Amino acid sequence: MGKVVVTGGTGYIGSHTIVDLLEHDFEVVSIDNCSRSEPQIIDRIEEITGQKIINHQIDLCDLAATKKVFDSLDNVIGVIHFAAFKTVPESVEKPLLYFHNNLVSLINVLKCIEQNDIPNFVFSSSCSVYGNVEQLPVTEKTPFGKAECPYARTKQMGEEMIRDFAVANPHSTNILLRYFNPVGAHDSALIGELQRANPNNLVPVITQTAAGIIEQMKVFGKDYDTRDGTCIRDYIHVMDIANAHTKALQYSIDGKNKTNCEVFNLGTGKGVTVLEAINSFEKVSREKLNYIMTDRRPGDIEAIYANNDYAKQELGWSPDRDINIMMDTAWRWELGLKERPI
Ligand SMILES: NC(=O)c1ccc[n+]([C@@H]2O[C@H](COP(=O)([O-])OP(=O)(O)OC[C@H]3O[C@@H](n4cnc5c(N)ncnc54)[C@H](O)[C@@H]3O)[C@@H](O)[C@H]2O)c1
Repeated sequence: MGKVVVTGGTGYIGSHTIVDLLEHDFEVVSIDNCSRSEPQIIDRIEEITGQKIINHQIDLCDLAATKKVFDSLDNVIGVIHFAAFKTVPESVEKPLLYFHNNLVSLINVLKCIEQNDIPNFVFSSSCSVYGNVEQLPVTEKTPFGKAECPYARTKQMGEEMIRDFAVANPHSTNILLRYFNPVGAHDSALIGELQRANPNNLVPVITQTAAGIIEQMKVFGKDYDTRDGTCIRDYIHVMDIANAHTKALQYSIDGKNKTNCEVFNLGTGKGVTVLEAINSFEKVSREKLNYIMTDRRPGDIEAIYANNDYAKQELGWSPDRDINIMMDTAWRWELGLKERPI
């Protein structure tokens, strides 16, 4: 099907996407400096797929090193750019680190795409570009809101940079994928989201609490104007997100794009409350979670979920793994890490 460069290929979403690309007969080359991941993820991908993968362990902020890798590759049909830092509180503490890493790496990748005439580009964006939305569900036409943190600003700026790049490079095809809340793991439980100390996101907090790494989890806010008083998010299984990349790339290769810079929301379109997520976890894992209800956490928005009609209609994509599958795979990944740590 063609050779694809995946940046951030040893990361959470990148590794799952490599598996999906290989299953759809693409050839993959990964670039990841493993600053936020582990090189052994490549072995795990090989174990799942039975195929050999090369990861170039270089920093994409280093233009010379990045050029060297791109110049060594021929017939590249597309680039999927995942590599970035993504931790919201860290971005508030270290905005310059985020601007440097996320934007310089993007500029360097775009320079290599331009110089090597690579026709298709897919960028990892985020629903955080919408800020604190008032109207739900969120469509691709919902305007950017105020960026709530420097991380979100890097996604807004990244998108704007790509839009300008698309104007200057009319023969390039660019796709911006705005993820809602990716969770879960590959069904084999060999790859998943690498666990960090003090996670901020709900699902790692749930699995780490059940595993005894976190003593007691806090549910922030019980008086939101939602069906059970807790916040609503659009959780989406990482393999469904991964498959959207393969479909987006194929869509571009097939020339089905309407313009040379298109945006797609990737969510299930269904909001799930924190308590519903906890109930689902307890059901599939048969574990009782130790949690308490506490006050709202500053900065949390009440509810956000996607309208995903455009991705379904144009890409022929449909996210079909429900919250129980998300929780089951996340839990088996957590348990697997105990037996076979990375
Ligand atoms: N996971 C989410 O909740 C989420 C939501 C919305 C958007 N996104 C975006 O999706 C992308 C992938 O996210 P993820 O969850 O897989 O994150 P991740 O941290 O697991 O993966 C990112 C990978 O990029 C690599 N990387 C970072 N900077 C690099 C650099 N300068 N040079 C080379 N490699 C570098 C890291 O080592 C890591 O393996 C990111 O752009 C992120 O902002 C993620």
